[in-house]
Amino acid sequence: MLSIDQFKLAPMPEIVFGNGTIANLADYVAGLGECPLLVVGRGSLRRSGQLDEIISNLAASDLQVTVFEGVEPEPILSTVEQGRQVLRENNCDVVIAIGGGSVMDVGKAIAALAHEPGRIPEYHRGREITAEPLPIIAVPTTSGTGSEVTPVSVLTDPERSLKASIHDDRLLPRLALVDPQLTLTLPPRATADAGLDAFVQALESYTSTGANFLTDLWAMEAIQRLGSSLRQAYYHGDDLKARENMSLGSLLAGMALASARLGLVHGLAHPIGYAYDLAHGHACGMLMPYVMKYNMEVSQTKYATAARVLGISDASDDGAAAQALHDWVSELTEELGVSASLGEVGASEDDFDQIIAAAMKSGSTAHNSRPVTEADLREFLQEML
Ligand SMILES: [Fe+2]
Repeated sequence: MLSIDQFKLAPMPEIVFGNGTIANLADYVAGLGECPLLVVGRGSLRRSGQLDEIISNLAASDLQVTVFEGVEPEPILSTVEQGRQVLRENNCDVVIAIGGGSVMDVGKAIAALAHEPGRIPEYHRGREITAEPLPIIAVPTTSGTGSEVTPVSVLTDPERSLKASIHDDRLLPRLALVDPQLTLTLPPRATADAGLDAFVQALESYTSTGANFLTDLWAMEAIQRLGSSLRQAYYHGDDLKARENMSLGSLLAGMALASARLGLVHGLAHPIGYAYDLAHGHACGMLMPYVMKYNMEVSQTKYATAARVLGISDASDDGAAAQALHDWVSELTEELGVSASLGEVGASEDDFDQIIAAAMKSGSTAHNSRPVTEADLREFLQEML
């Protein structure tokens, strides 16, 4: 039985989950605004015909839709600035972001900063947001970041060579609409990268110093669903059952991390992903086995529980079960094409100062189960090289 200490949960959006729920999007928008800005990515939604269907559904409900299309993976600040410009020119009063984590992060930033007087980079540098945000509806088309339920937007500032998050309750979506059917056409590479991010987020929120009774329940369920379905979704993208597990798992991991926060994988994944041009999930998958090894002395019991939940180990000894989870994660990441070392992605020791400086400032690093010093990080990165 889990022990119940005092706990506090971060605010959460209203959540709608289930196959086919996208068909009711207009009903949910109607209560929030009349002129939605629809934020989408680089064409997969349009190519599949889903975007046209969504737009005509919204238009049929007398909503004046403006589309802001073309959000890139790992989005930069100027994309948010452009989107905000389009929103202002068209007097949009609600933002709907339909896409992967990048699209949702951009949509959330546009909505939260819609009426702010400053330039977008100022808020990325920490300027306080004071204006009322526009309502946001977040609709994921990948099973990854859980951005639909978090008050975080991860954005890159090319001027500062920095990928970092804006973290503010005003970024929290009003509604998260999660329809697993939208993920059926996601290609294997994107399925793997997003799925690894979700799985790592589940494991990191489970072992985080911010974890509590309820986030543990969500994280454990997420670990089970994501861990048991990721391979199937990767090899058989049209398996709806696997896609449902992935969608629900990433949603639960997002709910857990919104309160529990994350750990060292996420502290390092942003600077490393930026430095070596890696997809976020790829960076997370590469880091996870090393961070597990680093955290083993503190998180062994939880790793062992996760191993048992996944059916990887029935060892009664925590050390053996935790080690089994470590080995399983290493095999999974290798099978999904994730690099095994920093050397493989072109890293050099010369980059370490910058990576360490960024990782030490990260809230994720601060929530890692085992405390982290600069010296620890240097040793850690050398081992990864
Ligand atoms: Fe992540």
